[in-house]
Amino acid sequence: MSPLTRRAFLAAGTAGAVSLLLGACAGDRTASVTALPGPRRDPGFVPDTELVLHAVPDTATILPDTATPVWRIVGEVVEGDPQALTEISGSYLGPTLRLRRGERVRITFRNELSEESILHWHGLDVPADMDGHPRFAIGTGEEFVYEYEVANRAGTYWYHPHPHRRTGPQVYAGMAGLLIVTDDEEQALGLPTGEFDLPLVIQDRSFDPAGELRYLDGGMMGAMMGFLGDRVLVNGRLDARIPVAAAPHRLRLLNGSNSRIYKLAWDSGEPVTVIGTDGGLLAQPVERPYVTLAPAERLDLWVDWSKAPIGAEMRLISLPFRAGGLTSDRFDVLTFQVDRQGPAGSGLTERLSDPGFDAPADADRTRRVELRFAGGTWTLNGRSFEMTAVADDEGVPRGSLEIWEFVNPGRGGMGMGGGMARLPHPMHMHGESFQVVERIVDDGARADWETLADGFVDEGWKDTVLVMPGETVRVLRRFETDGLFLYHCHNLEHEDMGMMRNFEVV
Ligand code: C2O
Ligand code: CU
Ligand code: CU
Repeated sequence: MSPLTRRAFLAAGTAGAVSLLLGACAGDRTASVTALPGPRRDPGFVPDTELVLHAVPDTATILPDTATPVWRIVGEVVEGDPQALTEISGSYLGPTLRLRRGERVRITFRNELSEESILHWHGLDVPADMDGHPRFAIGTGEEFVYEYEVANRAGTYWYHPHPHRRTGPQVYAGMAGLLIVTDDEEQALGLPTGEFDLPLVIQDRSFDPAGELRYLDGGMMGAMMGFLGDRVLVNGRLDARIPVAAAPHRLRLLNGSNSRIYKLAWDSGEPVTVIGTDGGLLAQPVERPYVTLAPAERLDLWVDWSKAPIGAEMRLISLPFRAGGLTSDRFDVLTFQVDRQGPAGSGLTERLSDPGFDAPADADRTRRVELRFAGGTWTLNGRSFEMTAVADDEGVPRGSLEIWEFVNPGRGGMGMGGGMARLPHPMHMHGESFQVVERIVDDGARADWETLADGFVDEGWKDTVLVMPGETVRVLRRFETDGLFLYHCHNLEHEDMGMMRNFEVV
């Protein structure tokens, strides 16, 4: 695999190694768990499904003959359909949760790590106290009980830790899993299911010579840029090869990387057929020459391999791009290999779903959020995260339909030719999904923007949107669920350094 590079624009690296990762965890495997009371369970809440998820130090085989220390989420179904939880075999990733819209679920999270943690259900619209906000982080040996009804459309969501300043290292150490929701509208479509529905979690990692995961060895400068690993993993495996049948498939892609953006294409040059985004199925399929997948974004692809001969290989690659101070070369992501016959394709229907979008003209107001490098750190409107603080312009009247305008100024700098202040930021909002209604690009930033823009899929519901240097992205969303929620950059190093704020729906 060709090396993954970014423009080497920095010379004077701040020393001061940031000791962030696994160090202390490995000896902790048998820590006994004393169940402390989480929030009181609602006596009136009767779950359809009850799960337990533990966070534990463990090892995984990623490199040959090497046990790499990881932090893993393991789980079990206490009550309900055993298929609600399935392992991705041979992977450090957490189990895949499969839920139905309208299902009531209770999930007990037990923290058996040597530091505090909390789980967040990325993309789900849940009550504020079930959302895994960092203020709910629990210590070693404690547990947190989540109870909620699945309100979201069918789609590919995911879960990961969210403790303040430690989300990046915990996700990097292995803590993340998929949460797949289905509903009647989706089931009526006859899309590929079972072995023909492939979830694919794409991540990047670096290893030290002993085979341990290496994180942020660039010190503070690495954190300012965001961590980029030099190897690509799919579902926890290097150089992924996935055997498939000669049949149509649904490919659910999640970019579970801390900071790396992928520009995904078939190396055959065929277009990519997209059927869904973060918040579920599109109204109808769309085609792209390639797709751009920023951290935390999901894309649902459809491919028909029913005419492919046994032995055929289909390769997904990432193409070169440039986004201000971040550049990426071409590299391989994964290879599918046809190893068996399969059922013939029934084709793809023209009408996939009714997204039920709102009209931008109906918006009650517009808010502006500037993504700025200020005071040596990444900020939102010049502010850093404060655990429970909500500024005057971060209160949202319940029931509002609002336009949020994420502005990436794409200029400024730290005396390094401004490279530091020209980075893309994948902006994420907790709670209800949004639609991307407009993108405006500065003339001076257009050349870079065009290296990724054809791969944006703005036709569907989203919860994370890439905001390129010199770009303003307007999103439209409703705020019906009250309480304190987060919005932040999903470049996890930026998030951990405070590029995150609360908004409060009241
Ligand atoms: Cu995946 Cu607060 O995010
Ligand atoms: Cu989230
Ligand atoms: Cu960022």
